[in-house]
Amino acid sequence: MAQLTKNITISELIKQISQLFSEADLYYGHGTANELDEAAWAVHHVLDIPFGCPQAIYQEQVPEQAFDAVQKLAVQRIETRKPMAYLTNKMWFADIAFYVDERTLVPRSPLAELIQTDFAPWVDMSRVTSALDLCTGSGCIGLALATYFPEVHVTCSDISKDALDVAAINRKALGLDKRVKLVESDLYQNLETKKFDLIVSNPPYVAQAVVDALPEEYQQEPDLGLASGEDGLKHVEVILREASDYLTEDGVLIVEVGLSEEALCLAHPQLAFIWLEFERGGEGVFMLTAKTLRDYYSKG
Ligand SMILES: C[S@@+](CC[C@H](N)C(=O)[O-])C[C@H]1O[C@@H](n2cnc3c(N)ncnc32)[C@H](O)[C@@H]1O
Repeated sequence: MAQLTKNITISELIKQISQLFSEADLYYGHGTANELDEAAWAVHHVLDIPFGCPQAIYQEQVPEQAFDAVQKLAVQRIETRKPMAYLTNKMWFADIAFYVDERTLVPRSPLAELIQTDFAPWVDMSRVTSALDLCTGSGCIGLALATYFPEVHVTCSDISKDALDVAAINRKALGLDKRVKLVESDLYQNLETKKFDLIVSNPPYVAQAVVDALPEEYQQEPDLGLASGEDGLKHVEVILREASDYLTEDGVLIVEVGLSEEALCLAHPQLAFIWLEFERGGEGVFMLTAKTLRDYYSKG
């Protein structure tokens, strides 16, 4: 591995780390899309500089201790192939800092944008008092929702006790212990509150064969996080079929299925999915009303 030059500016250090990452042929997709952003993340983290800081800061000299720490972090990233979020135990979601580690998926759902834009025009949030984040992982979606909408009581559920332990760390850090309930549950099975105005979910939705072929960075995430049977639809089929039993009369279901959008549409050509669009990127998120679901599954 190429040696880094000491006594350089922050800007130069970012460029050098970026070069190391490029040579190591890392894979991105857990918060950044390229080696330069990933390098900037490492440097900002160690030096504790906020993103969006004045440009002049980048011309400052890197203190020796910080240089060593950045180098160590960069080497770890290369040798372990762990996503940067696991190495720094931090990930931003909807402009909120979340604690993360290998017990949960690294937050990256486009649902963050929906929360930050008030779910407009799809959901009238002034009428929502209860919400469910199914398959919550770190709790990022449900906890962000509770943060942005102080009137809403949120249940976050996951089958993984490990994931819920991480969600509990985040719930406490955000001061949401009273308003957010964490439930260990195989999809809807153990939910006490039977009716929610809004259900949001980023469940596992990747076909097993696709998961097996993913870059090493994704293999570091929990087995339960991505794979959903042979066709990627195992979880979403249950979520769809049972959703109307857990939604209020005018409730709404919003689910991310990513690249499984096509398979889902083929499996349900008569179901009127509304596919949402995002300015900040992301795809494969649909919305359905309780009424549409009741009619489709003949639960009228
Ligand atoms: C794609 S991850 C999403 C995590 C989080 N919502 C996010 O956006 O970062 C899917 C989550 O579903 C959970 N999960 C897998 N199977 C489940 C099941 N049968 N019931 C409930 N949760 C499940 C996993 O433990 C994992 O935390």
